[in-house]
Order: sequence, then structure tokens, then C-alpha cells
Amino acid sequence: MQRLAWNPSPRQFKSLKAVLFVLALLPFVRLVAYAVADKLGANPLEFITRSTGDWTLYFLCITLSVTPLRRLSNWNWLVKLRRMLGLFAFFYAVLHFTTFIWFDHFFDLGEMWKDVLKRPFITVGFTAFVLLLPLALTSTNRMVKRLGAQRWQWLHRLIYIIAPLGILHFWWMKAGKHDFAQPLLFGAIVAVLLLVRVWWRLRRTAAESALSRPRDAAKESAVA
Ligand code: HEM
Repeated sequence: MQRLAWNPSPRQFKSLKAVLFVLALLPFVRLVAYAVADKLGANPLEFITRSTGDWTLYFLCITLSVTPLRRLSNWNWLVKLRRMLGLFAFFYAVLHFTTFIWFDHFFDLGEMWKDVLKRPFITVGFTAFVLLLPLALTSTNRMVKRLGAQRWQWLHRLIYIIAPLGILHFWWMKAGKHDFAQPLLFGAIVAVLLLVRVWWRLRRTAAESALSRPRDAAKESAVA
């Protein structure tokens, strides 16, 4: 595949990041505008819960797309946008969770906990949210340094569990209505984004063992 060599200048990158930041905030701004204008529909709670849930999932998918896009395009600078995109996934997850605990349970933690344990789709969503917390808390440069790059990378692989849990949560929620079109679509997107990584890993392992084979053979013949 022909690779597009484009490297934004620091100024271009800054502008691009700013535009992306504003775009990522738009769903939130829309929610606030609708709330102020009393345009959240007959069931405002459902509107906000669903909208914030959707955007959490979109940002998880967008964050997971960064590495495949970077590898396919050779645009290594894309990596520098990943943290912001991941934090937007967390931001919408916090709003989603806040809607639930505020409007569904009026901050009654005991009632909330009962609901988490009672409804399996909530249990799964809650687990995904809890797993997102350490990623958000360790997203700063200071935390990368403190944990060490390798441990930090291992921890951030939790996203490979969080995204499928998000899909399962969505699937379970829609199962009651036998409406699987959207969970299937997003399930397929997440599956592709994860499987492409497995494929690359397998290819790398195969290439590494092919490289070490002649060396081993040379060592054996030297010994013989
Ligand atoms: C990574 C975490 C999560 C993701 C990706 C996520 C995603 C979603 C999505 C996509 C929907 C469906 C929106 C639609 O119908 O268009 C949804 C609905 C919902 N989620 Fe989550 N969610 C997460 C965490 C949570 C948590 C922590 C809770 C509460 C503890 C929760 C409670 C709900 C509820 C109550 C609904 C709406 C059900 C309904 O309207 O019948 N979610 N979520």
C-alpha cells in the first residue's frame, strides 16, 4: 500500500489538535443546548443516558483506531492524539455514569449498588467504567514516568477488555428489544480493531523466529 508521508508542522499539529478537541466537545455542547432549550424529548433521562453511552463507545472505537491508522498511513504523529481521545471516552463515560447515579438513583449509593448487582447489563457497564478509571488516572506524563513505560503499556492494554465489555453492555441492553443491529455493527468494528493487532503480533513473532533460525543453525554448525 502506498503510504502518504505527511508530517504536520508543530503549528499545524497544534491547530489540528485544537479542532479535534472542539469537535469532541460538540456532543456535550449539544446536550447542554438541548437541555437549556428543553429539547431533550419526552424522556430526557433516556436521551442523556443513551447519548453519553453512545459517545463513550464511539470514543473507545476512535481511540482503538489510532494505532491501526498510524501503521497503515505511517502518520506516527497520530499517537500524540491518542491520550486526548481516550480521555474523551472517559469524559463521556463519567457523564453517562453520573446520569445513571443522579437521575436513576439520586446519589443513593446503596440503591445504585443493588442495581449494579441485579441487572447484568449494568454490572458489565460498571465493570468497564471501573477499568477505565486507572487508565484515566495514569494518563499524565508523570504517571508514565512513575510506572515505567512497560508497566504503563501493560496497564493501558485494559482497553482491549474495556471495549468488548462496552459492546457486551450495549448488546445486553438491546437484547430485551431484540434489536441487535447497532451492537452487531460496533461489535464488528471492535473485533476488527482487536484482531488486526493479533494478526500483527503473530506476524511479528513469525518474523522474529524466522530471523533467529539461521542464527541457531549457525551456532549449531559452529559447535559441530
Ligand atoms: C465503558 C463504559 C460504558 C459504555 C461504553 C457504555 C455504553 C452504552 C451504550 C452504547 C448504551 C446504549 C445507548 C443507546 O441506546 O443508543 C448504554 C446505555 C446505558 N448504560 Fe452504558 N456504557 C458504559 C458504562 C455504563 C455504566 C458504568 C452504567 C451504570 C452503572 C451504564 C448504564 C447504562 C444505562 C442505564 C443505559 C440505558 C439503558 C436504557 O435506556 O434502557 N453504562 N451504555
